[in-house]
Amino acid sequence: MSEKLATLSFSDGKPSVDFPVLGGSVGPEVIDVRALYAKTGMFTYDPGFMSTASCRSNITYIDGDEGILQYRGYPIEQLAEHCSFLEVAYLILNGELPNQRQLEVFVDIITHHTMVHEQLVRFYSGFRRDAHPMAVLCGVVGALSAFYHDSIDINDPPSREISAFRLIAKLPTITAMSYKYNTGQPFMYPRNSLSYVENFLYMMFGTPCEERKPNPVLTRAMERILILHADHEQNASTSTVRLAGSTGANPFACIAAGIASLWGPAHGGANEAVLKMLGEIGDAKNIPSFIKRVKDKEGHAMLMGFGHRVYKNYDPRAKIIQKTCHEVLEELDLKDDKLFKLALALEKVALEDDYFIKRKLYPNVDFYSGIVYKALGIPVSMFTAIFALARTVGWIAQWTELIGDPDQKIGRPRQLFTGAAGRDFVPMEKRK
Ligand code: ACO
Repeated sequence: MSEKLATLSFSDGKPSVDFPVLGGSVGPEVIDVRALYAKTGMFTYDPGFMSTASCRSNITYIDGDEGILQYRGYPIEQLAEHCSFLEVAYLILNGELPNQRQLEVFVDIITHHTMVHEQLVRFYSGFRRDAHPMAVLCGVVGALSAFYHDSIDINDPPSREISAFRLIAKLPTITAMSYKYNTGQPFMYPRNSLSYVENFLYMMFGTPCEERKPNPVLTRAMERILILHADHEQNASTSTVRLAGSTGANPFACIAAGIASLWGPAHGGANEAVLKMLGEIGDAKNIPSFIKRVKDKEGHAMLMGFGHRVYKNYDPRAKIIQKTCHEVLEELDLKDDKLFKLALALEKVALEDDYFIKRKLYPNVDFYSGIVYKALGIPVSMFTAIFALARTVGWIAQWTELIGDPDQKIGRPRQLFTGAAGRDFVPMEKRK
């Protein structure tokens, strides 16, 4: 079959130019414009990467119009229903679901890398007690490269693998420690008898003073939240990790860059922003005036937890998390939780409003995750940190894929320059 081409023609009579059209396994085709500059002396202009595929990837597939999310081909609904977080982590990292033996080995390796270097523990006292956990995470994860010199050779596959294990294993410890430091409670060392998620909740909420029994419903809810957040193809933070990785930076530095990018309220910080928004609305009777402010774009008011660059249909993660939210509130006897009721009422109003319908704005994963976190006793400032913990798996898989990609080059976008054209230096005495 002959190669499919896209032809670019110009209105000024310049000769037209052909570009190959590449097809993936599923999803939109892409026009390979790598030779555009060489052939035309022009660049493409695409702020926000609205129409640009930045890489090839085998990991996560999203069909935003249909509301589909798949990790390595498996629908998110099935993975959230049947798998543990580490099972999904293995899938995302290796491309296939593990068999029983592979899973046991993987869980054993992760379990035996959960402690952090004792000297790293002392880092925490350098932070203010009220530091935002994401600020602490950026610093401490970045600092890991200073502790694990033996695993920062990015060209050595065993080094890359051990870095991946260390990051996935230590993120719950580092995240829980940032919470404990905040509250002034003692750090809890990981316990190998617990599962990954039980261990995280233990390090968050356990104290040396009493035994803590894991609650299976709450553990499962947290497991699901982590699965839903584990990867999401080329979002802002993942692209940040890839861009940093394209320079040859070590994986700890790259993941720290991803954490910084995730922090923003338009990305991972949205779950925190949802709870703040619900708190401000306060009561269902205030929903109409809030919606009016959003529609009038008054003071940049937005319906946080709504809208997505890719999903122009219901975010499939939002459906799963809404169900999880019900289960958790039931388990904790919080069925009449005011915030949850307010969120449901707000969602209903927005979904029936022309403004949101026209713009294809639906709830995203963060609309309900905050309510689940809150019910679990997790403070608002920790929400994004837990997102980072989960997304670390995706970031590492994407980084590993990048390193092994023969097409990979240093990420170096170009620009449409609109500043002053060349001019001569003006001596101080002649400046106005
Ligand atoms: N509330 C009100 N209006 C919105 C919202 C919202 N949450 N999101 C988008 N819009 C409006 C925009 O104002 C714009 O309106 P206009 O056509 O009148 O100018 C229109 O919808 C299109 O919006 P864009 O900004 O072009 O959409 P984009 O794809 O760039 O933004 C984003 C997506 C950043 C997620 C945006 O919807 C948003 O900021 N949402 C709130 C924050 C949030 O929940 N983020 C979490 C994303 S999921 C995640 O990171 C895990």
